[in-house]
Amino acid sequence: MAQPISVVLFLVAFLLLCSAPAHASAQQQQQQQQQQQQQQQQEMLLHSTTTEQQAGYLQDKQCRDMFNARREMTQEEASTVAARLGASSQSFCPALLWTYTGTGNTMTRMLIEVASGWYTGSVYTDLSLVDTLPGEYVCGPSVIAVKAHPQWHPFSSVQPDGIRPATPHDPPDAKDVCPCSSFTRAVAVIRDPYATFLAEYKRLRSHDYGSCSLAAVPGKECSGGHVSVIKRAEFNSTDFRHEVLRMAKEWAAMFDSYDAVKAAHPGGFYLARYEELTAGPQETRLQALAGILQALGVPQPAETTATGESESESLPLQDTQQGGNNDEKLHSRLLGYHPQQLACAFEAAKHPAIFRPSDPAGINQEFVYAADGAEALVCDVWRVVGGRAAQHGYGPYNGTVCAS
Ligand SMILES: *[C@@H]1O[C@H](CO)[C@@H](O)[C@H](O)[C@H]1NC(C)=O
Ligand SMILES: *[C@@H]1O[C@H](CO)[C@@H](O)[C@H](O)[C@H]1NC(C)=O
Repeated sequence: MAQPISVVLFLVAFLLLCSAPAHASAQQQQQQQQQQQQQQQQEMLLHSTTTEQQAGYLQDKQCRDMFNARREMTQEEASTVAARLGASSQSFCPALLWTYTGTGNTMTRMLIEVASGWYTGSVYTDLSLVDTLPGEYVCGPSVIAVKAHPQWHPFSSVQPDGIRPATPHDPPDAKDVCPCSSFTRAVAVIRDPYATFLAEYKRLRSHDYGSCSLAAVPGKECSGGHVSVIKRAEFNSTDFRHEVLRMAKEWAAMFDSYDAVKAAHPGGFYLARYEELTAGPQETRLQALAGILQALGVPQPAETTATGESESESLPLQDTQQGGNNDEKLHSRLLGYHPQQLACAFEAAKHPAIFRPSDPAGINQEFVYAADGAEALVCDVWRVVGGRAAQHGYGPYNGTVCAS
């Protein structure tokens, strides 16, 4: 659980570090102070709303300790990560966690944080996430990955000439300046487009940028949309259709950004699938996370000590594949990462601020895509996303057959 005081302290430290040049005018300093006060106030509000929900969360002590131990990287640790990625530690920028909205970015950040022990940052400042992911304020070399959405920050905007200044198309919580602007590697997570668009639609229609960005009205409680429910009775199918077709175009275009990174920085791009992180046998999920950690340059824990193996007694691990030399084989299938470390990350990702409560009165895929007359929507979406989606094994919703 994030501690508001430490969050505030590191925020202050971060703002001080970034407030170059050192001779900022008194007026600027005053503005900064006001901003800090606003942020502190909002953190308190956020904190009081989430602690209650967190009762019963993360019972396993070892996992809870890992969750609580998350922090920023030291300079030395960042240099180690840079070296693993073959980057110079002088100008090191972590990899982007570069996903379309609705693809489990928040969940993936929690997985990465608990498994690596380090915070993830963002090119946005979404106050609805700050309490869960305190690195949200950071966009620099002290975090292990930086969140960005390719529809708002495409390839052209994360190149050596820097993150482009905020444009009218940016969400209001985009940071104006990201001290780390030269991103040359990215981890992408993709998800079935129909599921993605529904998740993003729920967020979009309930996220209040007016109260959840730094420009927010002080004292107004942030109502973030990351775990929101839309009631069936309130569903507007015209609005949904309009938004989903807009998202479909963005989703398909996102792959152009992915291709551009692959071309410009060979070896700098890694693609993971949401479905592998959330479904299937536990070992598949652990492997999917291990792949992400390796792509981010997270060091493997030092060779297991003699006592290390006995820890596996207490794992929240289900049975993994049987066979001789089990531990050794599992270790190598998990790319050298410790199963306990990975399993705890998945426990921590069951955070109430990450997963939506299931509400029988809420909209779901069947309701929005299988409703009378919605076949047309399914195929209209497929005509836009199909080329890219099929390459990654996705098909039209519920096996719908679409004329080409
Ligand atoms: C449904 O959404 C459309 C498009 O955004 C809008 O014009 C219309 O007023 C909405 N209908 C209701 C009942 O809110
Ligand atoms: C899938 O399609 C069938 C009929 O084609 C329908 O009966 C069923 O409800 C659909 N399932 C979902 C999950 O949408």
